[in-house]
Amino acid sequence: MFMRKSSPRILTNQTGPHPKLKQSPVGASTYMACYPVSLNVLEICQKIKKEQDKSDWSLLLDSGCGTGDSTINIAKSYPDYLVIGIDKSSKRLNQAQQKIKSENVRFITANLVEFWIGLKLVNASIAANFILYPNPWPKQKHLKKRWHAHPVMPLLPMISKYIELRTNWRIYAEEFCGRLTKLTGSVMTVEKINPKNPISAFEEKYFESNHDLFRLRYGRLNSF
Ligand SMILES: C[S@@+](CC[C@H](N)C(=O)[O-])C[C@H]1O[C@@H](n2cnc3c(N)ncnc32)[C@H](O)[C@@H]1O
Repeated sequence: MFMRKSSPRILTNQTGPHPKLKQSPVGASTYMACYPVSLNVLEICQKIKKEQDKSDWSLLLDSGCGTGDSTINIAKSYPDYLVIGIDKSSKRLNQAQQKIKSENVRFITANLVEFWIGLKLVNASIAANFILYPNPWPKQKHLKKRWHAHPVMPLLPMISKYIELRTNWRIYAEEFCGRLTKLTGSVMTVEKINPKNPISAFEEKYFESNHDLFRLRYGRLNSF
């Protein structure tokens, strides 16, 4: 019988949210203006926007989709939305492409920062952005590698009406929550979840290893 190796607990030298997170910038425009977006990514974003204008469909992003299970699961729950799984790893996306998926699923190999900026530049409207189990980067010195401390973070609530983060590290969720609250003024809370059907490969792995799982939701997305 196949036995999956248990996933180790997160080792961190933090006891709570990183004190330096408060210094993160709140504006996105300077960063966006300086960040190089490749022609290829811009063309993909323009194509998405054109299709969106033509057929009036709403877009859901699965940012950092890995091997695509979550993209496929989200698309099943939202058959009327187009769901795009984005990942920088073509190896993982090749695995995703082999899976059985509904018509409303697309996979795109891209750097998320570039893709998010590209979507903003073409004014695409995004109903939801799922960020599921991003690498926790748990050491204090890793702070800048976490999405909420990245200069692109202020853009996220600007491009999407709903953001859902899931993680197996409570501090990551709390930091993300604090930063998003500061950027949007909205009140939101981190919840502990116990999913009946894991949404993604990492959720399944952590669930089977008895890790606590956390979710943060900003805004609204109907029926999930
Ligand atoms: C820990 S895995 C989680 C995968 C999936 N969301 C899940 O829950 O199973 C994180 C994924 O994010 C992708 N990723 C990290 N930074 C990225 C970036 N800047 N652009 C695109 N993908 C990125 C990695 O390649 C990896 O597949």
